[in-house]
Amino acid sequence: MEFNDIKQHIASVPYILPELADDLYHFIRAQRPERCLELGFAHGASSCYMAAALHETGAGHLDCVDLLEGLNWHKEPRIEELLAKTGLADYVSVHREHTSYTWFLKKQIEARTADGRCEPLYDFCFIDGAKHFNVDGAAFFLVDKLLKPGGWILFDDLQWTYASKRAEGKRKTDGISMLTMGEDELNQPHIELVFELLVMQHPDYSDFTIKNDWWAWAHKAPGSKSVNFIYSEEFTRKRAAQQAAGRRFRKPFTHPTT
Ligand SMILES: C[S@@+](CC[C@H](N)C(=O)[O-])C[C@H]1O[C@@H](n2cnc3c(N)ncnc32)[C@H](O)[C@@H]1O
Repeated sequence: MEFNDIKQHIASVPYILPELADDLYHFIRAQRPERCLELGFAHGASSCYMAAALHETGAGHLDCVDLLEGLNWHKEPRIEELLAKTGLADYVSVHREHTSYTWFLKKQIEARTADGRCEPLYDFCFIDGAKHFNVDGAAFFLVDKLLKPGGWILFDDLQWTYASKRAEGKRKTDGISMLTMGEDELNQPHIELVFELLVMQHPDYSDFTIKNDWWAWAHKAPGSKSVNFIYSEEFTRKRAAQQAAGRRFRKPFTHPTT
């Protein structure tokens, strides 16, 4: 299914931003990953863009994982409904776990382990879930066991913080309580920590790209350890307007330990 066709069905469904939907769809068309994994699907908007691209490439499958409790948080529309409506259900397996996608990953590793070695399965993994250091730090190492050499990982929400949720009056998000977090835990973007301290330092990962300070890509292949920062025109324009209005931004990777 072409991008504009899937966009017509999905544009009003949260949460993926239009620019990432475009990038994700065209990444799959260009790279042709056969086995894809999505950690955190909510209503399935991003899953539908990925499935539409897989439909166009003619081969491939997406496993997407969320929480059982997500059925209460993201009632309408359901991913199953969107996949049926778009005719893309054959390209996606939907999984729901009690406590975390880390348990799904544990089961996959177990199932694919023989003679003490885990046979990798996936060519691409999109991590868009908890945004918590413990959960997504563990998820990265578990995904790494399942990701084939040459595969890619994409993280959403690079600079998201718990402090931003607390400012909205929330005490808990995605099942994680903020009540006992220290100020540094609240203010430090957790995905940025995962990316900088775990992914970028990992000897098998390279070709890092960070777009709009929010989406971070890594390639499981030998290559350059430098980061390619990309800023879209629309993002640059919006940010300039926000800066002119007095809002301050920090560049990624400026936390106290660097
Ligand atoms: C921002 S939403 C995902 C949006 C979706 N990828 C999109 O772009 O349309 C984050 C999702 O992650 C799920 N999530 C958070 N922590 C999780 C965990 N530990 N295990 C499984 N799912 C989790 C939430 O239930 C939520 O549906």
